Amino acid sequence: MIKRVRTENLQPGNFIHDFNCGWNGGNIFIDQTLIADKKMIDIIRSWGIKEVYIDTERGRDIDTDQSSGRQPELRQVTPPQPSNQPEKHPAPPSVPLAVEVKRAKKLRSDAVKIVRHTLKQVEEGKTPDVGLTYELARRMRASISRNRDALLLLTRIRKKDEYTLYHSISVSSLVLDMCNFKGLPEKRALDMAVGALFHDIGKTKVPHTILNKPAKLTAIEFHEMKKHVEYSVDLLQNAHNLPFECYDIALHHHEHYDGEGYPHGLKGEKISMGAQLTAICDVFDAITSTRCYREGLGTVTGLKRIYELSDNHFNKDLTHEFIRCIGVYPVGSCVKLEDRKVGIVVGSTENILQPIVKVFYDGKRNEKISPFLLDLSKSGTSITSYEEPGRIGVKPSSLLSEMVA
Ligand SMILES: [Fe+2]
Ligand SMILES: [Fe+2]
Repeated sequence: MIKRVRTENLQPGNFIHDFNCGWNGGNIFIDQTLIADKKMIDIIRSWGIKEVYIDTERGRDIDTDQSSGRQPELRQVTPPQPSNQPEKHPAPPSVPLAVEVKRAKKLRSDAVKIVRHTLKQVEEGKTPDVGLTYELARRMRASISRNRDALLLLTRIRKKDEYTLYHSISVSSLVLDMCNFKGLPEKRALDMAVGALFHDIGKTKVPHTILNKPAKLTAIEFHEMKKHVEYSVDLLQNAHNLPFECYDIALHHHEHYDGEGYPHGLKGEKISMGAQLTAICDVFDAITSTRCYREGLGTVTGLKRIYELSDNHFNKDLTHEFIRCIGVYPVGSCVKLEDRKVGIVVGSTENILQPIVKVFYDGKRNEKISPFLLDLSKSGTSITSYEEPGRIGVKPSSLLSEMVA
C-alpha cells in the first residue's frame, strides 16, 4: 500500500515511494529507496521535506494512528568526532613520490576524461555509468593511500578553463584524503568522493558571465549563482544508483555551520558530515585556485583563511582536523631554508617538519637557480619560515607546473 506519512515519523526500514517535494517549481524525482539508517532521515528532513509517500509492501509500515500522538525522537546526525590529538598525522608514503606521480598523471588524465564525459551525459539527460565514476574514485583513493602528495600536487595544476571540472576532481581528492586521515571505511569514503565529484554540476546551468565575473556579484547575480545547488540535484536525478549522500552533498555544500548558508540555512549538526567536509574542501580549493581573472592564494595563506572561517562557516573541530591533515608544510607551499635558499614543498617524509623540497631560488644572491630536489629529512636542513612567492617574483601556479614537468 502507498501511504503518505510525515517525515518525522519515518524509521529505518521504510521504503520511500515518492519524495513528494518540489524545488524551483518542478518536482525532483529521486530514486525510490529503502531508508537505511537514521542519518538518511535527518538528511531528508534537512531538505525541508515534510511528507513522503512510503510503500508498505516494499518496506516496513508506519502505524499512522500513532503519528498524531507523540512523535518519535529523531537522533541527530552523529557529530564529527573532535580530534584533540596533535600527534595525529597523515600516514607516511609507502611509495616514493616520483613513482606515484607517474601513475597519478595517468589517473588525472583519466579522471578528466571520465568526469568530463559523465558531466556531459548528466547535462544531456542521459544516464551516466555510475560504476565508472566509482571505479575512478577507488583508483584515486588507492593513489592517495600509496602517496597522498602525488595526486594532491597534480590536482593543484590545471588549465584556467574548465574550472568546474578540475575543481571537482580536486575537491574529491581532498575529501578522500580527509576520509583516509579520519580512517573512514572505504564505502563511506567513495560515496563522499563521488558526491564531491558532482557537487557543482548545476553550475552548467548558471550563465558564464556570472560564473566567471571577476568583480563582486550583484544581489541578483548571487541569487542566480545560489541556484546551482538545486540545479545540481535536478541534474543528478538522471544518474540512477547514486547514493543518497551524493544528492545531499550537492544540495548542502554551501550551508554554514552558523546557519547563515544556503539553500536551507541549516545549522550545526543538521548539516551532514559529507556536506560539512565537502564545504571545507570546496572553499580551500576555490581560494587557492588560479582563475582567469585572479591568481589563487598560496597554500598556507589558504589554510589561514580556512582557519578564520572555522569561527562561523565551518565545524571548528572538523576544520582543525582538515588543517592537520593538509599539514604544516603542505605540498605546494613555498618555504625558506636555513641557508636562505627558497623552495617549494613537493612531498612529505616520515618527519612532517622535514618534507621534500624543490629548491629554485637563492635568497643570498637574490636570483633563481637551477632547481634541485632536497629531502630535508636526509639532508638535515631545516625550514626557517614560509616564503611569499610574490615577494621573490614568482607565481605559485607556475611554480607547481614547473615542479612536475
Ligand atoms: Fe558550489
Ligand atoms: Fe565547488
